[in-house]
Amino acid sequence: MMKSSEIRSTFINYYKKNGHTHVPSSNLIPENDNTLLFANSGMVQFKNSFLGLEKRDYVRAVSSQKCIRAGGKHNDLDNVGFTARHHTFFEMLGNFSFGDYFKKDAIHYAWDVLTNEFQIPKDKLYVTCHISDDEAADIWHRQEGIPKDRIFRFDKDNFWRMGDIGPCGPCTEIFYDHGARAGKESDPFKGIAAGEDRYVEIWNQVFMQYDETSPGVLKPLPKPSVDTGMGFERLVAALQGQFSNYDTELFAPMLDVASKIAKLDYVTDPEVLRSQKDIFERVSAMRVLADHCRAVSFLLADGALPSNEGRGYVLRRIMRRAIRYGRKLSTQSSFLTPMSESLISHMSDFYPELSTRKNHILSTIKDEENRFLQTLDNGTGILQDEIKKLKSQNQKSVSGETLFKMYDTYG
Ligand code: GLY
Repeated sequence: MMKSSEIRSTFINYYKKNGHTHVPSSNLIPENDNTLLFANSGMVQFKNSFLGLEKRDYVRAVSSQKCIRAGGKHNDLDNVGFTARHHTFFEMLGNFSFGDYFKKDAIHYAWDVLTNEFQIPKDKLYVTCHISDDEAADIWHRQEGIPKDRIFRFDKDNFWRMGDIGPCGPCTEIFYDHGARAGKESDPFKGIAAGEDRYVEIWNQVFMQYDETSPGVLKPLPKPSVDTGMGFERLVAALQGQFSNYDTELFAPMLDVASKIAKLDYVTDPEVLRSQKDIFERVSAMRVLADHCRAVSFLLADGALPSNEGRGYVLRRIMRRAIRYGRKLSTQSSFLTPMSESLISHMSDFYPELSTRKNHILSTIKDEENRFLQTLDNGTGILQDEIKKLKSQNQKSVSGETLFKMYDTYG
């Protein structure tokens, strides 16, 4: 089995071999860019190069970018932990061309790295293109030999934008089929159109052609460019034969810590998870913690601090959600700090900022945990008193006002 560190370096080395400069991930907090709370994709640090506002001394780049998607355009925090591949923090592998190569080479590199370097069988892959992009569909078919019945065309799903404004363009995606055990839909077009879990988008190649200056207003970019977004955790899952990203070696060290502290097994059998609600909930709580531990540790390493507004508020929400789920596993123990310690020891080789800021990360998590657990305990006490009072008055429901106070003030 290829280890995740090897998968990352194989990708980076492939593009280096093909003339790309390896650019380290940027900080999660975008520099001089108020249009985004956090880096949400690999292209963010290159935004001005696409727009023609910044000239770099290379025209091809490759990166593994730290990303956060937590609320807003690209993710829904409440899903995280309950699905196979929603994350707040993830790594995005990408290759970029700033006015250098375009569709032909981009498509060739994508297919070559997936099917030759990573040796993914071709019959596990499907391709999508924008409905207007006959050129890309033609390249897939003529140049790479993909049968036409494995190339599907979509509209909105094949147009990528960074945010409400900024560089954007039509995209071509590659889907990996996890097979019949992962979902009933055997028709790949229908499965992909419906967003079925069985067919997973592992590669998104954006043909950057426009700057969206205000919503709906598209101005051509000075030079057509390429921006690839490849979800690292999804690729690792495909290559390690796992349906859920959480069951890969990337999450295992943290889940082991959670399972030991809770004295509960981390179960992966899909049949058990489908049929036993209590086990599903316990496993989901562990996954919430594992996901959030990564977001929290990387955000703290990059200088965010929990607070009540803006970026700090998002960080605080993620931390508090993790702490709440930790309480479902054990009312006595703390999970986030030891899990973060494990993450730091496993990921610092590639992201040394984690070990550099280790003390700060761990002490901030501990402080927030202590403060929030105190708040939760106070809230629980107040709620119990309220319920006692209502019972004595023979009332059966708690007022919306009380519930809002519980949520808003007492977490
Ligand atoms: N920038 C391409 C993506 O995020 O998928």
